[in-house]
Amino acid sequence: MEFSFDINYLFSERVTVLDQTLVPCRKSAGRPDLQAHVAKVIDELGIASAKAQQLTAPVTSASKMQAQRHQLYLLKDCKSNGGSGVVVGFLKVGYKKLFLLDLQGVHIEAEPLSVLDFYIVENLQRHGYGLELFDFMLKHKNLEPVMMAYDRPSPKLLSFLAKHYCLTQSVPQVNNFVVFEGFFLNRAVAQ
Ligand code: ACO
Repeated sequence: MEFSFDINYLFSERVTVLDQTLVPCRKSAGRPDLQAHVAKVIDELGIASAKAQQLTAPVTSASKMQAQRHQLYLLKDCKSNGGSGVVVGFLKVGYKKLFLLDLQGVHIEAEPLSVLDFYIVENLQRHGYGLELFDFMLKHKNLEPVMMAYDRPSPKLLSFLAKHYCLTQSVPQVNNFVVFEGFFLNRAVAQ
């Protein structure tokens, strides 16, 4: 995804972690022009992700990020667009208080880190960028993917999780979240 401004100046790292402040690095603090560019990138990504998932409205936007305690991992490719860089995609996660049905169908309360939105630009999908971004997040959070919940996962995300992390056995829930068998097995061991 190309922008009229310099992506490499805005995001110095290959993967940038953004929180509700929307400040990618120290040089952007107190710079309304750079903040506006960050907001523009997030809004455009949110719109593209919603379109890819055929959602009626984006679940990710700069204003939603500012209002919620989520984290957004943004991946760039520094070499494209004449050296200005392009945005490859993003992954948004956050803690969600959920009532889940365990393997016995008993309600339990949990607050797992959840995948809330995930998008790689169309022409770059199936090139391993999604895996790079997801693995970065797992290391950053020191977490196994089986311990996470997935909000309304698309068929592409379910295929991605099965391929890269062998997550196939989901446990039926009454909400839109998907969790896998190991979520409950590992919780039992940890308790
Ligand atoms: N059809 C089916 N499976 C796909 C597709 C596709 N078009 N694209 C990716 N995948 C899955 C497959 O398992 C694929 O392996 P394969 O090519 O051997 O079949 C694997 O992902 C490829 O892995 P990566 O290259 O690392 O993944 P990618 O960079 O494509 O990122 C992502 C995966 C984020 C799901 C991407 O395909 C995408 O943006 N899809 C559109 C938006 C979307 O559905 N996002 C998930 C929303 S749900 C949520 O966020 C909770």
